[in-house]
Amino acid sequence: MTIRLRHLVHVLAALVVTCAAVFWSGIISISASSGHWTITDLILHTAMRRSVIFHARNVTVPPDLEHPGLVRRGAAHFESGCAPCHGSPVRPRSTVPQEMTPPPPPLAPVIGQWEPQHLFWIVKHGVKFTGMPAWPALSRDDEVWAITAFLLAMPEMDGATYTALAYGAAEPPARGAGGLSLVTRPPLENCVRCHDHEGKGDPNGAFPRLDIQTEIYLRKALEAYHRGQRASGIMESMVAPLTEAETTALAAHYARKAPDAPAPVDPASLPPDILRRGKEIAQIGIPERNVASCLGCHGPKTGRPEFPQIHGQYREYIEIQLNLFVSGTRSSGADFEHLMSMATHALDPADIEAVAAWFASRPPSADN
Ligand code: HEC
Ligand code: HEC
Ligand code: HEC
Repeated sequence: MTIRLRHLVHVLAALVVTCAAVFWSGIISISASSGHWTITDLILHTAMRRSVIFHARNVTVPPDLEHPGLVRRGAAHFESGCAPCHGSPVRPRSTVPQEMTPPPPPLAPVIGQWEPQHLFWIVKHGVKFTGMPAWPALSRDDEVWAITAFLLAMPEMDGATYTALAYGAAEPPARGAGGLSLVTRPPLENCVRCHDHEGKGDPNGAFPRLDIQTEIYLRKALEAYHRGQRASGIMESMVAPLTEAETTALAAHYARKAPDAPAPVDPASLPPDILRRGKEIAQIGIPERNVASCLGCHGPKTGRPEFPQIHGQYREYIEIQLNLFVSGTRSSGADFEHLMSMATHALDPADIEAVAAWFASRPPSADN
């Protein structure tokens, strides 16, 4: 028995030494060009699949993942952030990423193998030991859900629909050019994909309107994304290549382009009790919960051009931003950012829905 045990110890020790020698010798190839052995590939993929399913087990899937605004926001980011590696409904993968090990797969055929919570988890956290990156702003689950919403819609999507969602009012690039070419275009042409030439944003609320804001607010917002202080995986990647001069020019381009635009939501289409509640919060706040009147800071009469305009902004965007303020995850690094968190920390979801609907039903030129 003791001899057998000693024998086993010797064998194990020899195994460890051999493994260490092989490891240290450098004989194992880490070259991407040789790919994985079939068995390694199988082990890695099984491990990935089990790990994703395990870690996504507590993720709650939001309702309404078919909302056109969500799909649009996801598609526009996909074109610049994902299509260069994975390809899209209108173009194949770029050639360079295909030489990675493992190569990024075309996604349409694999989407059906995952549940929405699994796709969410993969896009949020990325996949270790592959080139699959994590989402750059981990506090922005709402953005990751937008990408997930698009992924779920993509397998059935035709090329024309995809191009319209990804490029909006902008000219799509020549065939075969791929998403990477966006980097070499003049910056405004990229902004136009989501915010339109005039800064109208997206009527389904996928992107905010910029045409109602002052130049100083727009510049401060762009700088906050640039410093990484205002978290958005979508906007941070858009401003990363901008120079200071380009940032200033873009803020000037979009500022106050349409201060007289109509309200995006017809007040008659909203339930009267929502409108009444929204108006009350905007005008007097919620004194018993220390929520300040919004109109004290938002509106042309306040004389604070560095504060954003919210009359006439899209309802979905206002709701997202209010949720970020309430959860403490919207920051801008500006000296006034704490004002908004203090003013709104005690809003509940019904208040947010009502006040967002009311502001969206006001024309941008309204001052109350
Ligand atoms: C730098 C290249 C790269 C970029 C950019 C990238 N991915 Fe990936 N992605 C990969 C690689 C590599 C894998 C892993 C493939 C594997 O495990 O075989 C992967 C895996 C995935 C998977 C799982 C596919 C499967 O195996 O079933 C999904 C879903 C996915 N990526 C979505 C996205 C989305 C959405 C984006 C944009 C937000 C994105 N990827 C950006 C390289 C990339
Ligand atoms: C892929 C779509 C997309 C592109 C391209 C894009 N944006 Fe945005 N933009 C968004 C989204 C989504 C938001 C909301 C982000 C958030 O929640 O903070 C946003 C927010 C903004 C804001 C803040 C608005 C506010 O009211 O605080 C500014 C300013 C802005 N974008 C300017 C630009 C400029 C300038 C460009 C071009 C360099 C650009 N964007 C390109 C999608 C895009
Ligand atoms: C004490 C002043 C103050 C009060 C009161 C206030 N806000 Fe704000 N709000 C701000 C400031 C300042 C910002 C810009 C913060 C930043 O960008 O860092 C802001 C930003 C916002 C934004 C984001 C706008 C955008 O374009 O991204 C929304 C939406 C908003 N406020 C809604 C409201 C609502 C609704 C109320 C009332 C419940 C309210 N605010 C009360 C000062 C205030």
